[in-house]
Amino acid sequence: ALGELRIRLNCAVGVCNATGVILFVEENCDDPLMTALAYDPYLKNFEVHVISNKASEDAGSASFYFPGFVDTHIHASQYPNCGIFGDSTLLDWLETYTFPLESSLSDENAAALTYNAVISQTLKHGTTCAAYYTTIHTNSSKIMADLCKLKGQRAFVGKVCMDQHSPSYYQETIQECKESSLELVKYILDELNSPLVRPIITPRFAITCSSEMMTFLADVAEQFDVPIQTHLNENTSEIEFVKELFKDCESYTDVYRKHGLLNEKTVLAHCVHLEETEIKLIKEASAGISHCPISNSSLTSGECRVKELLKTGLKVGLGSDVSGGFTVSILENARQALLVSRHLAMTMDDSTKKEEVKLSVADVLYLATMGGAKVLNLCGKIGTFDVGKEFDAQLIDLFADKTNVSIFPWQRVDKERLHSNGKDRVKMENIVAKWLFNGDDRNIKSVWIGGKLRHQN
Ligand code: GUN
Ligand code: FE
Repeated sequence: ALGELRIRLNCAVGVCNATGVILFVEENCDDPLMTALAYDPYLKNFEVHVISNKASEDAGSASFYFPGFVDTHIHASQYPNCGIFGDSTLLDWLETYTFPLESSLSDENAAALTYNAVISQTLKHGTTCAAYYTTIHTNSSKIMADLCKLKGQRAFVGKVCMDQHSPSYYQETIQECKESSLELVKYILDELNSPLVRPIITPRFAITCSSEMMTFLADVAEQFDVPIQTHLNENTSEIEFVKELFKDCESYTDVYRKHGLLNEKTVLAHCVHLEETEIKLIKEASAGISHCPISNSSLTSGECRVKELLKTGLKVGLGSDVSGGFTVSILENARQALLVSRHLAMTMDDSTKKEEVKLSVADVLYLATMGGAKVLNLCGKIGTFDVGKEFDAQLIDLFADKTNVSIFPWQRVDKERLHSNGKDRVKMENIVAKWLFNGDDRNIKSVWIGGKLRHQN
């Protein structure tokens, strides 16, 4: 939960072989394996995941299971540009770096190579569920959906829509946009037909979308009951341009609302510069926010006031926003979310407010998992280890070879201390903090999605 890590020690988790659903969670077992065997003596119907802290201490490791990461905003097509953004800010970054790359993915071979790489990399970094943007191209977007199914990643795949204020070499007509959006949605729903992969309607952002297009896309989203993703209030020049283009709308958020694009299934990336009235509109619609801290620092977009949005009751998750963000790692985005919140605090004079805007370790790890699950309306299915949810998990090992986590023998967690009193729980919290700040993909031993092993290190 927000602000709270649920640490369960000496735990056995049973996962149904057929459905990948969690059947039982037993904590504080004297012997977790015996507990599991009591449920099913032959371990035939389910796979049992056991972490005994005593056993891991003996093996010289500090291991724990953690829910899989949720990336609520990632441009699969921009993966080759990770780290390349120079001194640009949003609008010139799009023109200089992003549109040329996206346009090159009309080539289906280039698209297949790029999308294969991005799924491998996100899985390796513990991302079990992602909301992807592709490009304007229908066929290469189908390839992305195919690859998500093949590699078993839980994913939303959206074809980017843009019919104005875009370069002539990378723009579609309203007719092309309508046809390709419908084609992709129907392909994913009817032909691909995977429980893991869903379509998502993707108007790029208000600047590149005509009123006619946005209205059409809102109708498609409603007709097929699918979610919507777009960008909102990322950069001050962007906001000025939107206000010029849509003079009859009260705010940037109001542009989406007026065109029927703001509802409980909408994912709004960035939201760095929201006005009070816009926060109200988003709350009324129950739309979700994707906080992209690395992107917002890299493109000098600003600092999203995440803690305040959460306190208002808004749904917030994390987004890598590759390649505005330079890494697919949601762990690193969680770390940066914490730092960005402290930079925000440093802009404040009022010492009480200063403390109030800071995000904690537990807060950012919530954003990385359950927060994201809520934004994507999947919190009944993923985000935590609870009976009835699917097993989307990563096995973390802080002692994995050649990693950067510094743990000394006296910091290791052993069973006796874990059981004795509350202080030892603090120890486990320190282990998790070490992982957040010093860990990386090398600490991820295995990744499961819907109970199936999808990555092993
Ligand atoms: N606004 C419109 N398009 C984009 C994009 O590709 N990335 C980011 N970060 N913002 C956008
Ligand atoms: Fe983005």
